[in-house]
Amino acid sequence: AAGTVTIGIDDIELATSHHVVRLDDFAEANGTDPNKFRLGLGQDEFSFPAPDEDVVTMAAAAAAPIIQRSGTEGIRTLLFATESGIDQSKAAGMAVHSLLDLPSQMRVVEFKEACYSATAALQAAVGIVTRSPGQRVLVIASDVARYELDTPGEPTQGAGAVAMLVSADPKLLEIEPVSGLNSADVDDFWRPNDSTTAIVDGALSVTAYLDALTGAWSDLAAQGGPAIAEIDRVLYHQPFTKMAKKAQVHLAGLTGEDLDTEIVEGAGDAGAADAGTAAANSAAASGPAAAAGADNSVATGPRDTGLATSTLYNRRLGNSYTASLYAGLCSLLDHDEDLAGKRIGLFSYGSGSVGEFFTARVVPGYAEHSHRQAVTEALDARVPLSIDAYRALHAAEFSSADDVSTPKVTAGPFRFAGIKGRARHYERA
Ligand code: HMG
Repeated sequence: AAGTVTIGIDDIELATSHHVVRLDDFAEANGTDPNKFRLGLGQDEFSFPAPDEDVVTMAAAAAAPIIQRSGTEGIRTLLFATESGIDQSKAAGMAVHSLLDLPSQMRVVEFKEACYSATAALQAAVGIVTRSPGQRVLVIASDVARYELDTPGEPTQGAGAVAMLVSADPKLLEIEPVSGLNSADVDDFWRPNDSTTAIVDGALSVTAYLDALTGAWSDLAAQGGPAIAEIDRVLYHQPFTKMAKKAQVHLAGLTGEDLDTEIVEGAGDAGAADAGTAAANSAAASGPAAAAGADNSVATGPRDTGLATSTLYNRRLGNSYTASLYAGLCSLLDHDEDLAGKRIGLFSYGSGSVGEFFTARVVPGYAEHSHRQAVTEALDARVPLSIDAYRALHAAEFSSADDVSTPKVTAGPFRFAGIKGRARHYERA
């Protein structure tokens, strides 16, 4: 019966760029204390694309294994969420559609509202599958976060893509119907059409984010959503992981609930795998509290809602804008072995601004689909850039006015081959 169909995320994959910039190197070059980044922002590294990579190549790399596993049957919609799109008119998803040889009998479209739009795409996908439970929707969030050199935003750059297959009877996450929403017209962060880097009022962006959390949380309650005690884990949009901590402190204040506020600090790139283990162990060590979930009456300290485990990938990726919240979801699913049947709250924020707080239930058996090893290997395999090389790459722009063939750099499965007749071209690497 239609009423009993569950809809949500059946499969998920994370991909990132070829290069990485280590914030310790960045700190040394700038004469800054490295703890400003590790502790102050909660970031160790940021992904940076090679000249033959962009949002399309990362998106295709994320979606390819999903299509390989589950084929294309019933996939009639591809929703591409990004705020670093490659064209003002044509959807970036069209190039992914072509690279992955997806069927012609599809709609392909791009969604935009800063970092929030992947959540809009996900909700639209749920709507499509609600009407047509035999269909599946491919949702891809892909972004390259770029700020001007020598600005406070620079260490919060990053790059990444998350692809999700939305279907009925999903294997990972059942999305629940109630959402808390908040929109407010605010100039905290934006990117004019003639700029490749974002303009940001950093202090305003942090308060706008927290205001949106207040608004979305109170609307969730007004819509009859679950109380904080009925939510076992909480995920946040992570422009830098310290922001998730700020949001968690804010939510604790709004609800009066004693929530965990520790991110894994200063884990470092080499120790990232250990950091994952450390966080998993600390989650396990807080067993009674973690296992108690909604029933926090037996917990002695703050309740473990997964702040440490959900920030492990992001502190190495940097900001991946639309993909960031869902990279946090990947991190949680890959590092928390106690999620079966648990309810997760997800707070999505996009500057400008929209906030949405929604909830989902983790499907038992989810852990069999962990991609922890592959993601960790991909993060470890990124090629570090010296700060001089990074600055040179940051400054290099291809103009659509010039025909160009890009140098072959990426080790990923797809590459941006160049520009011809003002159009961008892609190929399998
Ligand atoms: P900043 O100049 O690094 O700020 O800019 P700061 O000097 O206040 O330092 C940041 C923190 O580091 C502070 O801690 C310092 O105390 C600490 P806090 O008060 O925040 O707890 N610190 C240290 N800690 C340890 N050892 C030290 C040390 N030194 C300092 N030695 C800012 C920070 C976020 C403004 C900047 O990075 C920025 O502009 N980022 C870009 C905007 C952004 O990410 N905003 C987040 C909210 S908006 C959002 O999430 C949307 C977004 O993703 C875009 C979209 O929606 O599309 C951005």
